[in-house]
Amino acid sequence: MTIADYATALVTGASSGIGAATVRALCDRGLETWALARRPERLAELSAETGCHTLAADVRDGSGLDAALEGLKIDVLVNSAGVGRGMEGLLTASPEDIAATTETNLGGTLQAIRALAPGMVARRRGHIVNIGSIMGLYPMSAVIYGATKGGIHMLGSTLRLELQGSGVRISEVSPGRVHSEFFAANLKDPAGAEALNTAFKLLTPEDVAASVVFVVDAPAHVNVSMVELCAVEQIPGGVQIAPLET
Ligand SMILES: NC(=O)c1ccc[n+]([C@@H]2O[C@H](COP(=O)([O-])OP(=O)(O)OC[C@H]3O[C@@H](n4cnc5c(N)ncnc54)[C@H](OP(=O)(O)O)[C@@H]3O)[C@@H](O)[C@H]2O)c1
Repeated sequence: MTIADYATALVTGASSGIGAATVRALCDRGLETWALARRPERLAELSAETGCHTLAADVRDGSGLDAALEGLKIDVLVNSAGVGRGMEGLLTASPEDIAATTETNLGGTLQAIRALAPGMVARRRGHIVNIGSIMGLYPMSAVIYGATKGGIHMLGSTLRLELQGSGVRISEVSPGRVHSEFFAANLKDPAGAEALNTAFKLLTPEDVAASVVFVVDAPAHVNVSMVELCAVEQIPGGVQIAPLET
C-alpha cells in the first residue's frame, strides 16, 4: 500500500492547524477526504478550497461519531483532534481541564479508531496515523497533555499487535512545537500563547502534514512506526536540578 493504493481519508481536528494542512496534502495527492471537527464554518471554508467533504462532529462523543461515520469506507484515518487545557500544571488544573484534554486527545483517538478500524480490517486495507507530541515522549512541562500523548504512543504500539495480520498499518507522527492556533485556543494567558508561537522558527502545520504523507506513502511491506520531528532550534531532553525549598 502506498498512498496511490488508498482512495479515501478522514482527518479529525481538520478545522485548523495540522489537521487542515493534512486535508490539503491528502486532497493534493488525490484522496477523497473527509474533514471532521466541531466548527462547521471552518470546515466549509476548507471544503471550498480543497473539495473535501465535511463532518461536524465531536470526537469525544462515540455514538455521535458512529452516526456521523455510518456507511463511510475510510482507508486512511488521521487523528489530529487535540486540546491542551490545563497545560499550566496539574495542581492548578480544573476538573473540566482534565476531562477536556483526556477525553479529546486520548478518548477521541480511541473512539475514531474503534469506529473506523473494523471496516479497514474487513477490507484488508487501511492506515491509521495518530498525531502525538514530543511531550508524550519526553518529560516536559505539561503533565495532563503529556500523559495523553504518552497514551497515544502506547496506543499505537499496542494496537499494532491487535491488528497484526490484518494489513492495517499504524503510524505515530510526533512533532515538537508547531505554529498554529493551539496555544491561543488553550492557554489562559494570551501573551504567553503568542510568545510560544514566536519564540523561534517553529515547525509549520505543513511540515507535519508532509510527515503524514510520508508514512502513508511507504511501500506496501513497510510500516513507519513513528516519526519525531522538531524545529532545528528545539531539542527535548536534559536534567533539571533545583535546590529544595526550606
Ligand atoms: N501546536 C503544537 O505545538 C503541537 C505540537 C505537537 C502536537 N500537536 C498536536 O497536533 C494536533 C493538532 O494541533 P494543532 O497545532 O493543529 O492545533 P489547533 O490548530 O488548535 O487544532 C486542533 C484541532 O482539533 C479540533 N478539535 C478539538 N477538540 C475537538 C473535538 N472534541 N472534536 C473534534 N475536533 C476537535 C479543533 O477543531 P474544532 O475546535 O473546530 O473542533 C481543531 O481543528 C493536536 O492533537 C495537538 O495535540 C500540536
